[in-house]
Amino acid sequence: MTASQFLEVDNIEVLYSQAILALRGVSFRVEEGSIVALLGANGAGKTTTLKAISNLLASERGHLSRGAINWRGEITRALDPADLVARGVVQVLEGRHVFPQLTVEENLRSGGFVRRPSRRALADDLERIYTWFPRLRQRRGVRCGLTSGGEQQMVAIGRALMTRPTLVLLDEPSMGLAPIIVEEIFHIIRDLNRNEGVSFLLAEQNAHLVLQFADHGYVLENGKVAASGTAADLAERDDVAQFYLGAAAAGTAAVEPVQTTTV
Ligand SMILES: Nc1ncnc2c1ncn2[C@@H]1O[C@H](COP(=O)(O)OP(=O)(O)OP(=O)(O)O)[C@@H](O)[C@H]1O
Ligand SMILES: [Mg+2]
Repeated sequence: MTASQFLEVDNIEVLYSQAILALRGVSFRVEEGSIVALLGANGAGKTTTLKAISNLLASERGHLSRGAINWRGEITRALDPADLVARGVVQVLEGRHVFPQLTVEENLRSGGFVRRPSRRALADDLERIYTWFPRLRQRRGVRCGLTSGGEQQMVAIGRALMTRPTLVLLDEPSMGLAPIIVEEIFHIIRDLNRNEGVSFLLAEQNAHLVLQFADHGYVLENGKVAASGTAADLAERDDVAQFYLGAAAAGTAAVEPVQTTTV
């Protein structure tokens, strides 16, 4: 391992409740400045992988039973989630977790507090989020519970960005959202990547969509990496489309919502 390495996941196994083996020797890496897609069907192990990286498994009665995760040359095993945020790794959980009673702006501020910023720095950070997500500026005073699903996803991402991360772990950002809003969110992610150098690890069932935005992809099946390659190569591979990605990769139901569609 050299100090220049960014994220390296090395042969990890994850056990839930000392009984359920959810990951069976997963290895992959995220290069600095890239967007990497983590693909796979329901239950393949995408969320487990992200939670292993951000050390959020303990709250699920899960733990790393083998292997190691290396963040910029440091083994992360002994770090807690807040330590990782301080080192630039932040996760946006599946399902748009926002505080419904708080306004959009209050939700965003709650992400900024982890760094104990000055008022000035917090204002600058908010301004930065509103530049990326103009919709949120318009909705800044509205209680989050009253905003749309797409806006809540933007708040969840914006709150994570308030920690000034270098790597964002994003779990199923397209879930339950209308295609047009998903496209908008993915374009913002790509711009953040290109213009600010933020790296992303994106867990998605919607392979067809995410491979248009990612540099590399890894396909999980039953807790193992079943295929990997550049996003362009994976998108071309029929076996990947048919066996691992289901209908989504065939383009038929590319952005078909899993939950109720909301804009
Ligand atoms: N807290 C838990 N306790 C026990 N087993 C779990 C827990 N969370 C996940 N699992 C199991 O681990 C495996 C991987 O689940 P995981 O949630 O990581 O998959 P996923 O790829 O994110 O799926 P989805 O697309 O449905 O979100 C599944 O078999 C699942 O049932
Ligand atoms: Mg999941």
